[in-house]
Amino acid sequence: MIPLFRHHTKASSQPRRLTLKILRYNPAELNAAPSFQAFEIDEADGMTLFIALNEIRATQDPSLQFDFVCRAGICGSCAMLVDGRPALACRTLTRDLSAQITLAPLPFFELIGDLSVNTGKWMRGTSERLQTWIHAVEPVSADILETPMAPELAEAIYELDRCIECGCCIAACGTAQMRPDFVGAVGLNKIARFRLDPRDQRSDDDFYELIGDDSGVFGCMSLLGCHDVCPKQLSLQTQIAFLRRKMARLGLN
Ligand code: SF4
Ligand code: SF4
Ligand code: FES
Repeated sequence: MIPLFRHHTKASSQPRRLTLKILRYNPAELNAAPSFQAFEIDEADGMTLFIALNEIRATQDPSLQFDFVCRAGICGSCAMLVDGRPALACRTLTRDLSAQITLAPLPFFELIGDLSVNTGKWMRGTSERLQTWIHAVEPVSADILETPMAPELAEAIYELDRCIECGCCIAACGTAQMRPDFVGAVGLNKIARFRLDPRDQRSDDDFYELIGDDSGVFGCMSLLGCHDVCPKQLSLQTQIAFLRRKMARLGLN
């Protein structure tokens, strides 16, 4: 795997002066055109891009738009292009970047303004299309004892459930840039998760109906940009390869 960022060791304890070149564009403004705007700030110890952006907004330009909720790599809302690569702003230390940093919004998703994109709208649409909920035959009832699940299986499901829907995998995906209907690694990972869950009664034929075409697993070009940029280090390569093998067999029948 390619290392995410070069680590810049500081020769002296002097703080660096950082220049953040940020792509500014507000689609709601009449006649607005995208352009880069440079902001300069002093680097602080342990500074993340999230902290840097907040400082710029607080001291230089309150109109700068970007998203965050958790500041801890959990909510998935702060993803953006950092020097051309999708990453979480709250988990990216400025000391791992050069003093000239370029920030742009994630491509593919609807732009709200500047670095803010509407990943939630796309994620919800994809979840509805892929029916990412447990399809149980038995009605759920508080009177029925829960069926125990092997800890290893519960762990495997939990591992795939760690996706934070940040959109980095979609922003890094060549197929998604060409096909707006492609479900991407995030969608395929969700199918892998529900396929694993014994409470979900759907068969592989049912899953084939959802992802057995070029907008699903057969549209994937296997270049694995998704795997390289996923901030949760999900095993996207393994999941996609496994699903493709399973679905290809069904397609031959
Ligand atoms: S699979 Fe990884 S990169 Fe894609 S949305 Fe989930 S956490 Fe983000
Ligand atoms: S491996 Fe497939 S899903 Fe991942 S980035 Fe490439 S085309 Fe997209
Ligand atoms: S602010 Fe929640 S993941 Fe960055």
